[in-house]
Parts: sequence; C-alpha cells; structure tokens
Amino acid sequence: MSGVVEPRVRVLLDPDWASGSLVDDVRRGLGGRPRRLPPKWLYDPVGADLFDEITRLPEYYPTEAERAILTAHAAEIAQACDASTLVELGSGTSDKTRTLLDAFRSPERPHGPLARFVPVDVSDGTLRDAASMLSVRYPGMAVEAVVGDFTLHLGQLPRGDRRMVAFLGSTIGNFYLEERAAFLGALADSLDSGEWLLLGTDLVKGADRLVAAYDDAAGVTERFIRNCLLVVNRELGADFDPGAFSYVPFWDPRMERIDMRLRAEEPQTVTVPGADLVVELATGEEICVEISTKFRREGIAAELGEAGFTVERTWTDDAGDFALTLARRD
Ligand code: AVJ
Repeated sequence: MSGVVEPRVRVLLDPDWASGSLVDDVRRGLGGRPRRLPPKWLYDPVGADLFDEITRLPEYYPTEAERAILTAHAAEIAQACDASTLVELGSGTSDKTRTLLDAFRSPERPHGPLARFVPVDVSDGTLRDAASMLSVRYPGMAVEAVVGDFTLHLGQLPRGDRRMVAFLGSTIGNFYLEERAAFLGALADSLDSGEWLLLGTDLVKGADRLVAAYDDAAGVTERFIRNCLLVVNRELGADFDPGAFSYVPFWDPRMERIDMRLRAEEPQTVTVPGADLVVELATGEEICVEISTKFRREGIAAELGEAGFTVERTWTDDAGDFALTLARRD
C-alpha cells in the first residue's frame, strides 16, 4: 500500500523466557520471603487473553474509565504537548492508543502530525501484530516497536525528536513503593528536559468496588493470577499444583493497594528444576503475585515532582475513578 512504512521491530528481550530473567525472578522471588512472583510473568499468551477478558468484565472499571478520558480529551492532550514521537510502555494491543494516535495525527494539531510511534511491550507476538496494524492505519507515521521490559530498557528508547512517553492502564500500580520511585527516576533520567509523560492511574475509591474489580463473580481474575503457576511449570519444569492454592485478593488500606496472593491450602514441596530450586510451603503460606496500587492526585504530583517532573494537567472521568496526568521533565 502506498505511504505505508513497514514497522521496525527491535528485540531487546530474550525471546526464550526460561533463559532470561524469569529464572532470576523465580529464584529471588520464590526463594525469599515474602514469596513473590513478579506480575510481568502473568502475560504469557493465555494470561494476555485472560487480561483481555478482565478488561471487559462488568466489575473492572479502569479500562473503560481511561478510555472515556482519552475519548473526551485526546485532542486537548495532543494540543497541550509538542511531542513528535509517542512512546508507549506496555502497549499491548495498542487498543486505547489509537484514540491518542488519531488525535496526534490530526491535521488540526498545531504542532503538526506525530512522526513516530514506539510501542514497547514484553509480548513479541502482540507487539508485531499491533505494529503492522498501526503502520497500515497511519500511513506516513514510522512505527518502531521495541520488544523490551520497561523496567530494564528505558535507556534504550529511540531518541531524536521530542518524545512523549505514555504509561497507561495504571500499570504503574503494579510497582511496590520503592520500585515506583526507582522507575519514575529512571524514566526521568531517560528523558531530556521538556519531554513529556502521560501517566494513567487508578484512583482510591470505596473498598467494595475495588475488591469487586479484582475478585470478579466469573472468576476470571482468579484464573489470571493462578496462571502464573502454570507459566512457571511450563517454562521452568516446575510441579506446582494450581488446585492446591486459593486466590486471596484484599484491599490494604494503609498502602492503598489491592494485594493479590495465592495461599497454599496444604503443605507442599514444589520443585523448580529450571531455577534449581525446591520450595517448601506450609499451609497458609502465601505467594504475592500482584499489587494494584490506587492513587490520589496530591500523591501523584508529589511522586512525579520527586522524580523530576512537573504536572501540567490532569484529567479524570466523570465519576472521578481514574486519572490521566500530563507531566513534563524539568
Ligand atoms: C494491568 C496492572 C493495570 O492492576 O488493574 C487486573 C492488572 N490484575 N486484574 C490492574 C490486573 C488483575 C491491572 N494492570
């Protein structure tokens, strides 16, 4: 097709998970206490499908809330910042991003149409599909996809013209407090003064709605969380019996986060040959799989300020469930 620029895909992540950081994460996470499995390993093809299903659950409001903000305000966002490259961290199917891209490619945009889109994701297949689709949809825009881990590869983002980094979906809520500060600091380090950040954050609200969003009636979230055991079984030859664990999601009001754990319902010995590890679990012992931190506007501004960003504008949906914050590197 004329005008279509073939997407470029740069692979920074080892495509073979088992030989990569999964081994380190499992050794460190399951070998230590509290026992942890980092949430990035939830997104194998099965997990990615389950997450997709989560975003369509009646209880799971964040996806729709963020989409509503983007639909209502993408044009303002595209006008408020003069970026000519958009980098999206954890882009997945780049579904919501299309709303942003439409606005950034609009002929009405005072800064001219966006020249380049850089989706960054750990999932090679999803990324390639999204990159091809976007090249066709936005002829004339360069798509330079990066198969990478945004906790490791921020320093290797393409440079050149002025960038905006979009980190949507409240993925930042997955980080523990100290990881979050480190991530925002690394992100600030990777940007030049005047470059932009668009950050999506789920906001603190009543515990009932929060818990329901992570403990849905259809049990999809439970399957999503439990799937991480199957990933470790498959990739590292482990012998987790997923049925021997119960799903324990709860709201931690002090840390203002949902905490999603798997609790051993019987004493068990799990062998993980690929990580050279044997884990003894007592009844009631828990594996922390994921947290989903919820934010307040003042907190977001303070954390961004600490990292070297200044908030320019914040948008929320009508219900005030979710926020999009546009900030600028000092
Ligand atoms: C993709 C990290 C934003 O925390 O809401 C959804 C992941 N986990 N249900 C979230 C998730 C269980 C989601 N994030």
